[in-house]
Amino acid sequence: MSLNQLFDLNGKTAIVTGGGSGLGRVMALALAEAGANVVVCSRRLEVCEAVVKEIEALGRQGLGLSLDVTDRESVVQGVEKAISHFGKIEILVNNSGTVFESPATDMPIEQWQAMLDTNVTGTFLMCQAVGKHMINNEYGKIINISSSIGFKGVDPEAVDSVGYTTSKGAVMTLTKDLAVKWGRHGVYVNSIAPGVFTTGMNNPEIPGTLVHKAGPFIASQVPVRRLGSDNDLVGALLYFASAASDYCTGHILTLDGGLGAK
Ligand SMILES: NC(=O)c1ccc[n+]([C@@H]2O[C@H](COP(=O)([O-])OP(=O)(O)OC[C@H]3O[C@@H](n4cnc5c(N)ncnc54)[C@H](OP(=O)(O)O)[C@@H]3O)[C@@H](O)[C@H]2O)c1
Repeated sequence: MSLNQLFDLNGKTAIVTGGGSGLGRVMALALAEAGANVVVCSRRLEVCEAVVKEIEALGRQGLGLSLDVTDRESVVQGVEKAISHFGKIEILVNNSGTVFESPATDMPIEQWQAMLDTNVTGTFLMCQAVGKHMINNEYGKIINISSSIGFKGVDPEAVDSVGYTTSKGAVMTLTKDLAVKWGRHGVYVNSIAPGVFTTGMNNPEIPGTLVHKAGPFIASQVPVRRLGSDNDLVGALLYFASAASDYCTGHILTLDGGLGAK
């Protein structure tokens, strides 16, 4: 296989949850640029359909779906629609996520539950629904978006969300366990753990986001002396989505400019 063929996604179909905004949009467009048709889904159909228009402008097919990852019925129906539209799903990017900040002592149980429901249960429900289909086809690439702050404790001055860190740690363990259970069926399960990216929930223009609060300080602590941006994400994504990663499963790839190495 040539180098180009290793990374080529022509003829493949991908689902990106939360693909209508932030990092999900960046990944949906990157998969389309690499040749894939892309299903973009989240609760807000209009943002997904806007990204589908961008995918079509790249010469690929897209499908926007309204889907709530916390609702099993919604997940099963959405995945069925995607399969009946495209015939097959080879790539699943579980990117939908949510964060609420509150001191651990006072975090409302509703916020804790919402983070676990979206970030962990949502990822599992999507893996379950699409994984069955991939196992039947004896091929699939699942990429779960965790976070570099899911590895260890975080100072409350940086991110004060024990529910978020806990949920992202769980996404890493879910990734490894499914990789071990499904590797024999040709289904690969890996995770990207982004550090601080200047998009989506860390958009510097939105008051209250981590980057709005402390972007320059965080950048000064990162070994490569900057925050993450769109191009920093897509190389790892295309590796995990393509034949290039056919001997890699159960891996958590950290994209944090070296911060975790300190
Ligand atoms: N930005 C960063 O620096 C950073 C760092 C590490 C990890 N991450 C992770 O990267 C992922 C994307 O985050 P982002 O920064 O791009 O933020 P974002 O723009 O807020 O993206 C979150 C996405 O999740 C979707 N979503 C939330 N709840 C959902 C639900 N119940 N069902 C379906 N979709 C749902 C949202 O769409 P709807 O509202 O339309 O449902 C939205 O598109 C998240 O998993 C986040 O934890 C981000």
